[in-house]
Amino acid sequence: MTNFVDDLAAALSGAKHAVVLTGAGISTESGIPDFRSPGGTWDKFDPMEVASLDVFIREPERFWAFHRPRFDMVASVAPNAAHAAVAELQRRGLVKALITQNIDGLHRRAGSPDVIEIHGSLSSGRCLRCDFRLSTDELLARADAADDGVPRCECGFQLKSNVVSFGEMLPGEELDRAFEHAGLADVMLVIGSSLLVAPVSNLPGFVLANSGTLAILTEGETPYDSRAKIRLHTKAAETLPQVLAALDTLDQTD
Ligand code: APR
Repeated sequence: MTNFVDDLAAALSGAKHAVVLTGAGISTESGIPDFRSPGGTWDKFDPMEVASLDVFIREPERFWAFHRPRFDMVASVAPNAAHAAVAELQRRGLVKALITQNIDGLHRRAGSPDVIEIHGSLSSGRCLRCDFRLSTDELLARADAADDGVPRCECGFQLKSNVVSFGEMLPGEELDRAFEHAGLADVMLVIGSSLLVAPVSNLPGFVLANSGTLAILTEGETPYDSRAKIRLHTKAAETLPQVLAALDTLDQTD
């Protein structure tokens, strides 16, 4: 594993346009379960029954019964050493873009200067019918005041956070930025993602098509494992500080 840590440090140090792509696995050591590990969220819930746009429209009470506790869970945890290490890589100028599938806001709280939140975030809400927009505090105040737990707009329609639900369009600007950076990347480091959900799961393919280096730091398997030049099946919060230490050693020998 030490070789792979050194290899990853060397790849990041020599990259012209390194991009980091993160998934739920980077937040598990903060206490947020991921989705597809044994015991993960989708072991307990069917995403199509609790997190799809169709359920939000047809049965908003069921949607909000799943969605509401996630706000408190995210508020109750803190970024871990992996989030901090990614922010440090950005600060050192070694990472040109951070793309995350996570909606927990932990990258921003760890100090990452710019985060492409391709699946949206919990940080605000809106009405899909009249495009009324509101803060999370106001959204949750309306949810908690409602007998059925469903926050409603003045137009009468139910409100949701800006987290992308299954079947919902991804935010266009973030999607464009993510694919633009993937097209420019000569190194992509994937951290804590199973790379199973499109369109994000297509991003590593862009790097490979450009003969770039794909590095994957994810405990579980991914469809790209055979094509990753650097593959670590270790815990991100343990390994990324080791990568930073290896970079410091490289700097000293330069
Ligand atoms: N360090 C490294 N990898 C980890 C860690 C850790 N501490 N903890 C978990 N992992 C790995 C798991 O083994 C798994 O391979 O991270 C991966 C997480 O995969 P998923 O649970 O599928 O999460 P993700 O890839 O982010 O899911 C993508 O699916 O349900 C949708 O919108 C949801 O954004 C999510 C998307």
